Amino acid sequence: MPREIVTVQLGQCGNQGEPSDLLKIQPFLFSGSQKVGAVYWQRLCAEHGINKEGILEEWATEGGDRKDVFFYQADDEHYIPRAILVDLEPRVINNILSSPWANLYNPENIFMSKDGGGAGNNWANGYASGERLYEEVMEMIDREAEGSDSLEGFMLMHSIAGGTGSGFGSFLLERLNDKFPKKLIQTYSVFPNANEGDVVVQPYNSLLTLKRLTNHADSVVVLDNGALARISADRLHVQTPTFDQTNQLVSTVMAASTQTLRYPGYMNNDLVGIIASLIPTPRCHFLMTSYTPFTSDQIDKAKPIRRTTVLDVMRRLLQPKNRMVSTTPSKTACYISILNIIQGDVDPTDVHQSLLRIRERQLANFIPWGPASIQVALTRRSPYVTTNHRVSGLMLANHTSIASLFKRMLDQFDRLRKRNAFLEQYKKEKMFENGLEEFDDARATAEELLKEYKACESADYITYGAPETEQA
Ligand code: GTP
Repeated sequence: MPREIVTVQLGQCGNQGEPSDLLKIQPFLFSGSQKVGAVYWQRLCAEHGINKEGILEEWATEGGDRKDVFFYQADDEHYIPRAILVDLEPRVINNILSSPWANLYNPENIFMSKDGGGAGNNWANGYASGERLYEEVMEMIDREAEGSDSLEGFMLMHSIAGGTGSGFGSFLLERLNDKFPKKLIQTYSVFPNANEGDVVVQPYNSLLTLKRLTNHADSVVVLDNGALARISADRLHVQTPTFDQTNQLVSTVMAASTQTLRYPGYMNNDLVGIIASLIPTPRCHFLMTSYTPFTSDQIDKAKPIRRTTVLDVMRRLLQPKNRMVSTTPSKTACYISILNIIQGDVDPTDVHQSLLRIRERQLANFIPWGPASIQVALTRRSPYVTTNHRVSGLMLANHTSIASLFKRMLDQFDRLRKRNAFLEQYKKEKMFENGLEEFDDARATAEELLKEYKACESADYITYGAPETEQA
């Protein structure tokens, strides 16, 4: 029985964007408009041999994949993504609806606000819109949930710096958690570039969202626009990458992170298996990713990679420069857990030997209170997408240095808050009418999270949060 996953895409970043140069390289894989969600679905379709109308291609006969985790079949055999597209500004979704991919989605699963102004990059506005429009969106989610045989959970795609993805997303996270307490909630959250934020109030929006990501999500895959820009510059030689280019990186990572669910083997073939192996304690559930190699069949202008052996891939995955989160180096930071999803032509003995080499050379520091091991899932590749490298890998890692990203967010928040800057727009909304306690509360949640990640680095973390024993 499939363990279905319903995807909710929120806001501009969650949904779509401009046409890409990749069209020239692989017209089937990338055509028309795209942003994170749109590019992701195009990639999934390519990997399962589904065309842009949702029809299975005649040549897609190899089978063995599990399309039904992410798609269902309509009465006329169309494959339809289990996806709900929500935006407060119609322009972005309208672009999808005028693209060649328009017929892929279920039109009943598209929510656009009638007044259409967006949330003005204001978390409070997005949250209030969530309160107002919740019933309509929840009806779509309920319909998808009821249409599943054995729903495993939800994936939320959004950015945390604007208004809709952050504010509406925060409200939805609270409600989803409340309404479906036994279902998993995983988010793919785009964090803003700390060095050149394009939204002046991003520190407010981000911190308010971080509180909900901490309290209401089971797992958060952090995609840091700062790191994505750095990787684009490094891999693609593009100094100021467009969102199209960074979204190709993001969709590659997202597709690889769901590979074991869609091409199942004997392990990690449901979301709970992946989350359980990566998240030993509930609050430290923010994951980093690395992927290698990015090649020109996925990303236009990618540098050629000469050699891909398992050891080579696993070593590259551990290099900080390949992480899609920019963190500050620290001597005490360590891995809580690592899951490598390796695709391609791989002999399991190569994996064991590579793990041994990595251990001998101490390439990965682990927490002192848990198993110090890299878990490896070998997975099949889609037979329908040709690649020019032998082995590729995705690392999902729980690493304490992610706290340095939160610390940067907290510092930026404090600087803005100290000046009482830009608060008027927030005070217009009900939540802030009578005071700004919500800001203080979000700040306290972030501080607590920082403290817990720090505590993870020492052996007595095991007793963290336990009531103190009375001294004799
Ligand atoms: P409103 O515009 O206020 O309604 O909210 P929204 O959630 O639609 O805003 P948006 O998603 O544009 O959020 C802004 C943040 O998302 C900024 O940090 C942008 O850098 C980032 N962002 C927007 N579009 C993309 C995208 O396609 N890819 C990536 N990686 N980041 C994006």
